[in-house]
Amino acid sequence: MTAERTIEPFDAVDVIRAKRDGGAVPEPALRWMVDAYTRGYVSDAQMASFAMAVFQRGMQRDEIRVLTDAMIASGERMSFAALGKKTVDKHSTGGVGDKITLPLAPLVAVFGVAVPQLSGRGLGHTGGTLDKLESIPGWRAALSNDEMFAQMQGEVGAVICAAGSGLAPADKKLYALRDVTGTVESIPLIASSIMSKKIAEGTDALVLDVKFGSGAFMQDIDRARELARTMVALGTDSGVATTALLTDMNVPLGMAIGNANEVRESVEILAGGGPADVRELTVALAKEMLALAGQPDADVEAALDDGRAMDRWKAMIRAQDGDPDAPLPQARETHVVTAQRDGLVTRMEALPFGIAAWRLGAGRARAEDPVIHAAGIDLAVKPGDAVRAGQPLFTLSADDDQRFARALEALDGAYQIGEAADPAVHGGPIVRERITA
Ligand code: URA
Repeated sequence: MTAERTIEPFDAVDVIRAKRDGGAVPEPALRWMVDAYTRGYVSDAQMASFAMAVFQRGMQRDEIRVLTDAMIASGERMSFAALGKKTVDKHSTGGVGDKITLPLAPLVAVFGVAVPQLSGRGLGHTGGTLDKLESIPGWRAALSNDEMFAQMQGEVGAVICAAGSGLAPADKKLYALRDVTGTVESIPLIASSIMSKKIAEGTDALVLDVKFGSGAFMQDIDRARELARTMVALGTDSGVATTALLTDMNVPLGMAIGNANEVRESVEILAGGGPADVRELTVALAKEMLALAGQPDADVEAALDDGRAMDRWKAMIRAQDGDPDAPLPQARETHVVTAQRDGLVTRMEALPFGIAAWRLGAGRARAEDPVIHAAGIDLAVKPGDAVRAGQPLFTLSADDDQRFARALEALDGAYQIGEAADPAVHGGPIVRERITA
């Protein structure tokens, strides 16, 4: 008996060659490539080769649109139309100490806008929102679609939960492959990956926090701008009102890098305090989200200062079985790094601090690894601060003191005490530009 065979309309090698030689891949062939990879007909080796060709040769705007659309078509499309309120989401391209989603979602919900924040876990040096929230005793990341709807429709209005596996499964497979084949930092691949998930999610509007600097995918602002423009165009063309802020990720955001300590800092913001840079970015993103939802004059700072955002936060955590008042995990071991001399903190590079926190156990090297919620770094100073010899600069926390050596190795040369900080690298506002369609 002969097994029935589907005749495939294209050949992966031809698609790879076309891109390798710098050509544009015709729409039907590109759609087929994504579909055949999701089905398992195109192998990981072939897709990795194609991703590398895209990395080297780039893609035209129309190819990026088709790639994004093909990834959306690989899974389900959600819709929040039945909610009867506007939905606005935020996505950050990832950074070090980036806990903004935690205070931002409840803050925006105060104004009657629904926030569907489908989030991920951390991989490598950038932390994951779900990992941070799982530091809270009892908190549950996995919600059914019905639970998500009920939470957004009701008094809470905001939800931060795990994205279901049904959204853009082609991206899930391709992203895991890119992660191990050196093909992450490509504008067409990042833009299609992020936007396929956000468009499939069905939000009405989206604000992108596109980061540049040492702790970001894009080291320089010009590449970040190009990424932002590409994503804003993809969202707008799909009917999602999309804008982007270009934000500085040269220095860790705030004073906490980790999981439980980032929750603590988020709660400080929700109580009207917290580090100035975290508040500045939270307020800027909230204003941008509310402007897209038709409320350009919303007084978001008042909602942080008068307890309304905090009340929403507590309701949001309780709705997902968490106890917002329970003590957060504390590390068993700490190691304090002190200043060697008097002077000014002139440099603190985000990337090595992110890697050090990861090595302390705050992040994971493989998707299946657990994270240590109490592990991380608490900064005592930031660039521009004056210090005296012997004064604490930052504290490393871990469950096992054997982890300190490798974390300290990552931090070697990552900070400096000198005479004057370089304002071109460290200093200035966090939000540098706003990109619109
Ligand atoms: N985040 C994503 O979801 N995809 C990328 O390619 C990069 C960051």
